[in-house]
Amino acid sequence: MSEEKKNLPQLLDKLDQEYESLKRDPALFVTWESSDANTQIQIYLRSVNSANELNEAKIQLLGKSGRLSMYLSELGRLPKEMRPQIAALVNPVKARDQEIIDAKFEEINRTAIEERLRSESEDVTLPVREAPFETGRVHPVTQVIDELTAIFADMGFAIAEGPDIETDGYNFTKLNFPEDHPARDMQDTFFFNPKPDGSRLLLRTHTSPVQVRTMLAQKPPIRVICPGRTYRSDSDQTHTPMFHQVEGLVIDKGSHLGHLKWILEEFCKAFFEVDRVKMRFRPSFFPFTEPSLEVDIQCRRDKGEVRFGEGDDWMEILGCGMVHPNVLRNCGLDPDGFQGFAWGLGIDRIAMLKYGMPDLRAFFEADVRWLSHYGFRPLDFPTLAGGLSS
Ligand code: DAH
Repeated sequence: MSEEKKNLPQLLDKLDQEYESLKRDPALFVTWESSDANTQIQIYLRSVNSANELNEAKIQLLGKSGRLSMYLSELGRLPKEMRPQIAALVNPVKARDQEIIDAKFEEINRTAIEERLRSESEDVTLPVREAPFETGRVHPVTQVIDELTAIFADMGFAIAEGPDIETDGYNFTKLNFPEDHPARDMQDTFFFNPKPDGSRLLLRTHTSPVQVRTMLAQKPPIRVICPGRTYRSDSDQTHTPMFHQVEGLVIDKGSHLGHLKWILEEFCKAFFEVDRVKMRFRPSFFPFTEPSLEVDIQCRRDKGEVRFGEGDDWMEILGCGMVHPNVLRNCGLDPDGFQGFAWGLGIDRIAMLKYGMPDLRAFFEADVRWLSHYGFRPLDFPTLAGGLSS
């Protein structure tokens, strides 16, 4: 028997040659199963690794017009006494090949399944991977805007918006800052170059101009909050040139400071997610309110952490007051018929307080590591019923 590995057609030729000599003298073979050709065919069948190759071998050997079937169907043309002898030699070969092929098919299938199991295996201990649309994070500023929107919407407030680029009139004059009033120096403003007529646009320094725009555009009763970007030339750990405020405005016939205090207290409890919060209203000054107040909330400072609803420290969180009669007049409202209150609050500041972020500048550095640490999952939309920050 040659050691060289033969291919199927060569083996079949060899089988044919042996069969020819078998026909000449069957007595030469006691069995035919272990002949050269058959042994090599068996070795070949056992070495086949692909189902296609094996199938081809099966067709060529055992198929309807395969070699072994042909040998048997030929028997009728052979001398009568030879037929049983040859059949007795061919049938066991056929049975043997069939057996090897069956076993081999099973082996190939099993290996394929094992291979699939190995390559497609799942590590069930891995955490569930987030879907692509879940991998982004909601910026804390957006989160806080969503939270306070949920809270004020529940109290019946609508959202009003205005442009970031404002006129001097909306940002200052209509809010009762007279030309050359020193109050204009309270805010370090980004002005655009003056136009030929001398007027200057500016980046709004607060959200208060949206009050003016709302009063000019809507009839009372008015209940709006105005969240948005604001700008001042300022930069340190708690100030950035661009920051966020939310303005609140209520105008009606009988709205008074008692309403304002209740709204702010409810807001603080809901926002900081505490049952109770003590607040302190201190007299202050803003050109657009009279009286004007600053609001502190009770807190406890503990190793750099601030807790609300406990302790005996105070933290200033917003400015507010009754809308100045001049502002009402500037916005076409009769101060004898309507009165209202307003407040302004730093969104970034309350975000830092609530979520413990130490440096405001990091908010706007667009560092994804910061965002994945402090950001919020996109599908956890804040609601009062479902929890604001769960
Ligand atoms: N506009 C003020 C600021 O930027 C904040 C503010 C104070 C807004 C009192 C108000 C208010 O509406 O009534 O500092």
